[in-house]
Amino acid sequence: MIIQTLELKGFRNLTSLDISLSSQKNLIYGLNGAGKTSILEAIFILGFGKSFLKVKKSDLVNFDMNAFFLKMGVLKGSIETELIASFKKNGFYLFLNKKNSNVVELSKYFYPVFFSSSNYNRTIDSVTEMRKVINRFIFGVHSLYIHYILSYNKLLKQKNYLLKTTKNVLELNSWNHAISEMSSKIVDTRMQFINKLNHEIENKFGNHLTILYKPSFDTNKGISDDIFYQQLEKTKNLEIKNQKSMIGPHLDDFEFYFKSINFKFYSSGERKLHLLMIYIAFIELFKKTKNQYPVFLIDDFDTTFDNQNIDFLLENCPDIQVVATSVHKFKSFDNLIELKCGNKDLKRVKNG
Ligand SMILES: Nc1ncnc2c1ncn2[C@@H]1O[C@H](COP(=O)(O)OP(=O)(O)OP(=O)(O)O)[C@@H](O)[C@H]1O
Ligand SMILES: [Mg+2]
Repeated sequence: MIIQTLELKGFRNLTSLDISLSSQKNLIYGLNGAGKTSILEAIFILGFGKSFLKVKKSDLVNFDMNAFFLKMGVLKGSIETELIASFKKNGFYLFLNKKNSNVVELSKYFYPVFFSSSNYNRTIDSVTEMRKVINRFIFGVHSLYIHYILSYNKLLKQKNYLLKTTKNVLELNSWNHAISEMSSKIVDTRMQFINKLNHEIENKFGNHLTILYKPSFDTNKGISDDIFYQQLEKTKNLEIKNQKSMIGPHLDDFEFYFKSINFKFYSSGERKLHLLMIYIAFIELFKKTKNQYPVFLIDDFDTTFDNQNIDFLLENCPDIQVVATSVHKFKSFDNLIELKCGNKDLKRVKNG
């Protein structure tokens, strides 16, 4: 799949932007504050319905405007699709070919992989961030997974509400049954996905690099509704005492190892390269599963990536559409887009 056109209105500092992208390597370059990350953020929202940053939709609206509008022309095979995301006072809307739509529908036509060269440390150091990355990966290759996660989150919210408001043990049982059923689906899907991804990593880069999946449920006796329900039974009194759910896929952990040493012991450049290798392996897995490439978004492309790493990336992803950003211009990209609006907005914010 490839992004052909992108039109943004009222999004962060980008009051109005209209660009065409090449099917291969695009570089958006410009000064600090020009709006480079904002462009990738807009593309990401069209893929996942939310930002990669923890922000409210209303914060994304340009200070001088009261709505944002994002439109993207995507080509998948020979099918052209128009994706729209808009936010106004009365809410956030997604449209597919001018018809009201939702994230599940949009993801059938467009799937971005976002790699941030400046925030990768936060990703590696935070279990929550890592779980988000893995969840997004699985959304891309497993069509039911998003439904599992949405159902599980809903059940968990209801169970936590119950734990806060009642001491009725019997009422908990039915929630635990539903939760163990959904949990076994999630854990099983995650287990299978991590096995496949490790296999892909090994194929591409050798067996030094591995991801270890550590489910919160004990899976030594297998993965099933019953096995998980028994563990929930055992944890019940503790959960009642703490008034919150203490075990389940929302607490699963993923650890990354290079030569049997956890990523956290490596230098920041090494960590970044290792994480990039995992992303590249995922992209290959996506290609094998979906028979096409996702779109690869890379923010601050050159920050602490040395030249060797840049070549490594371009060599490893020869046929994929890349939308990268940088403060500098790089000739190795086939489409260079200079963003010039930064200074003006920066001044306005300061004066304002
Ligand atoms: N709601 C908003 N309305 C107007 N401007 C905003 C809004 N939110 C953020 N900005 C401004 O938009 C500008 C663009 O930010 P962005 O992060 O996209 O820049 P960038 O080109 O990626 O810069 P850098 O090279 O530093 O990463 C910043 O100056 C920021 O303060
Ligand atoms: Mg930026």
